[in-house]
Amino acid sequence: MLPTRLRKNAAIRNLVRETQLSMNDVVYPLFIVDGQNIRREISSMKDQYHLSLDRLEAETLALKELGIRYVILFGVPDEKDSDATPAFVENGLVQKAIRVIKKTDPDMYVITDVCLCEFKSDGHCCFFEENGDIQREKTLKTLSRTALSHAQAGADMVAPSDMMDGRIGHMRDTLNQAGYESIPIMAYSAKFASSFYGPFRDAANSAPAFGDRRSYQMDPANGREALKEMVLDIDEGADIVMVKPAMPYLDLIAQGKDLSYLPMAAYQVSGEYAMIKNAVDANLMDQRVIFESLISIKRAGADIIITYFAKELQAMLKDYQ
Ligand code: PBG
Ligand code: ZN
Repeated sequence: MLPTRLRKNAAIRNLVRETQLSMNDVVYPLFIVDGQNIRREISSMKDQYHLSLDRLEAETLALKELGIRYVILFGVPDEKDSDATPAFVENGLVQKAIRVIKKTDPDMYVITDVCLCEFKSDGHCCFFEENGDIQREKTLKTLSRTALSHAQAGADMVAPSDMMDGRIGHMRDTLNQAGYESIPIMAYSAKFASSFYGPFRDAANSAPAFGDRRSYQMDPANGREALKEMVLDIDEGADIVMVKPAMPYLDLIAQGKDLSYLPMAAYQVSGEYAMIKNAVDANLMDQRVIFESLISIKRAGADIIITYFAKELQAMLKDYQ
């Protein structure tokens, strides 16, 4: 422990504190749906909403008021198809949402989740061959095309969450060839096949129609495999690497940080949120636990935290830091 003289009042405690949180550390996820005048609470995630495009301007202004500067967008369209077409069309949900947010607040930094599962009828993140193997060429092309359509709509950064081999290099080439060298890629590099995504499947309506994602997401038992995935993405040109979920994998946030000089991101996922949120609402834990969870993720090494608690952080910073 620090000597008593370094703990005796708030001023000295603040001066010697190793880790600080700020609104520059957090990214807030938004779920965009078809339809009108929709701001509907997601059943599995209290205080998180499905938003239609016409409610997005007001939401953007509200987020700004709460100090949020970074958002990550997920599209949840009514119509999906076997080619994942709604993912990459010019007037897709995400593409339109980017334009609405940027028009409302050009300073809001817009990141997009790039995947196929929310747009593809079978809910998988990739295409399959007849024999069940992953259809690589078509998957990579569709992912890159989706990322490009986001950049063209005005996104500031793309975040591929599919976990297909080779996607980062492919996407980098596609963006560069179209003149988008300046758009960074944040790679969901170490993405575990996790039950902590449970509430999200509800939010994104993306539960796979058959099988599961274990063929392309990682075994929670394997840390070295996660480091290898990060190395591969770094070699292919990722600008930021991500570990997901966050709290059960703090070891990999720390070890991943030592792997390169790239910024490290962590995704505090839906299940982590739901556990903490429900426990706080049930008075099982003080709401300081939210702050503790975020500061722990930062202390482990995350420079960027994607979190559903971003809306609560500004107030907590005043009270707890
Ligand atoms: C889509 C995607 C998922 C999450 C982010 N992007 C779901 C999944 O991989 O099953 C999970 C986010 C969360 O649980 O909050 N590929
Ligand atoms: Zn996916």
